[in-house]
Amino acid sequence: MDKACHDRTQIHGNSSSECFKYAKKEQIKLKDMNKKRIVAVLGTRPQFIEMAPIIHALNKFNDVELLIYNTGQHYDRLMSEIFFDELSIPEPDTNFEVAADSVSHAEQTGMIMIKAEKSLLSDKPDIVVVEGDTNTTLAVALAASKLKLKVAHIEAGGRCFDKTLPEELNRVLLADLADIHYAPVESHKKNLLHEGVDNSAIHVLGHPVVDSIAIVSSRLKERFPSEKMELGNYFYVTLHRDFNVDNPLKLQSILKDLSELAEKRTVVFPIHPRTQKCIQEFGLSDSLHNITTMRPIGYVESLSLIKHAYAVISDSGGLLKESMVFGTPMITLRPNTEWPEVAQGFANQLAFARGNSITKCVQLLTRNYDVAKVSMKKFSTYLGTPNKVASNIASHMRSIL
Ligand code: UD1
Repeated sequence: MDKACHDRTQIHGNSSSECFKYAKKEQIKLKDMNKKRIVAVLGTRPQFIEMAPIIHALNKFNDVELLIYNTGQHYDRLMSEIFFDELSIPEPDTNFEVAADSVSHAEQTGMIMIKAEKSLLSDKPDIVVVEGDTNTTLAVALAASKLKLKVAHIEAGGRCFDKTLPEELNRVLLADLADIHYAPVESHKKNLLHEGVDNSAIHVLGHPVVDSIAIVSSRLKERFPSEKMELGNYFYVTLHRDFNVDNPLKLQSILKDLSELAEKRTVVFPIHPRTQKCIQEFGLSDSLHNITTMRPIGYVESLSLIKHAYAVISDSGGLLKESMVFGTPMITLRPNTEWPEVAQGFANQLAFARGNSITKCVQLLTRNYDVAKVSMKKFSTYLGTPNKVASNIASHMRSIL
């Protein structure tokens, strides 16, 4: 077993066979002076998914050398390696291996910054591309900015205007740090303009998730997890945000509502590691007795579930974008959203907005299901044209090298 695997086994008790094959390579790459160098940054599950098409598009250019960094923020095989396989992401050139249980945000951000600075100093890229709003995104963008490297931010400009969310803090700071802002839609560009970002630095080119979906669309399954699944007649649930799972009473109340729902319609719930830990710690496993639970699932399975669900119930930003593309109504387990235009009417109700609840949202959805479906379908092309977004972003990036 190599040292990295050994350390990981000590921390997480994984067997060596589970040890992540994408965490092995460690070498300095000599710069090809005829090529411009771009560093693409990965670290969490949504970044593996949403950066895959950008990586494929950049890899097509002969005059661009692409280096991939993986911070290791997500380290379980089912949260990381599986997506490299499904989306054919090349092995990272550098792995920071910051994986650690229950570290604070400051510790995680700091550890990533220290490793990023070291790698960026030796790699000297012409552009550093970060995506989304996670600690990985902020930490690498901050390290790169301090080294006066050009930072491009994909998924720029989304705002829920609630700074109690770590992701919102990260997004706001990223607007200051990035030099190039790839906003998915015009309303996100507006947010950036309000914050003083220069118009010429913002490019509205869609969201690469439409290309990620296109990569696997021919592999989607009719019925998952069981052949007996009734299409269009189940709820697909995911849950991981700190404000929903870290508080025992809140988590208990969500699980109680889901369990009541499951009396009438199947509820399929793959459980995020963070949520799993909280369920165990708070002794809430019994609340799941009538829910179809499983460990985190792959991208093909997740999209298959979204495509055929009656509705998605989730606090995930990624699932909202994917539900938009498939036109599947959603109930968002949050009081606010970065996509208020989708939260009008019944397409995507906010379960924790004032005076609302999961039960109330489900009742309203059931009574207005056809309207909800039509409203959500209107957003199926909102995030861009498949097979165009990533190539347009990559071409733009190359044009400014
Ligand atoms: C992070 C992102 C969030 C994103 C989500 C997708 C930040 C601030 N949050 O939240 O925006 O929507 O990823 O999943 O960056 N853990 C494991 N195994 C893993 C990964 C995490 O056990 O593979 C554990 C960690 O040890 C920690 C907890 O889950 O105890 C939280 O992990 P972390 O990556 O900090 O945040 P997420 O909740 O996944």
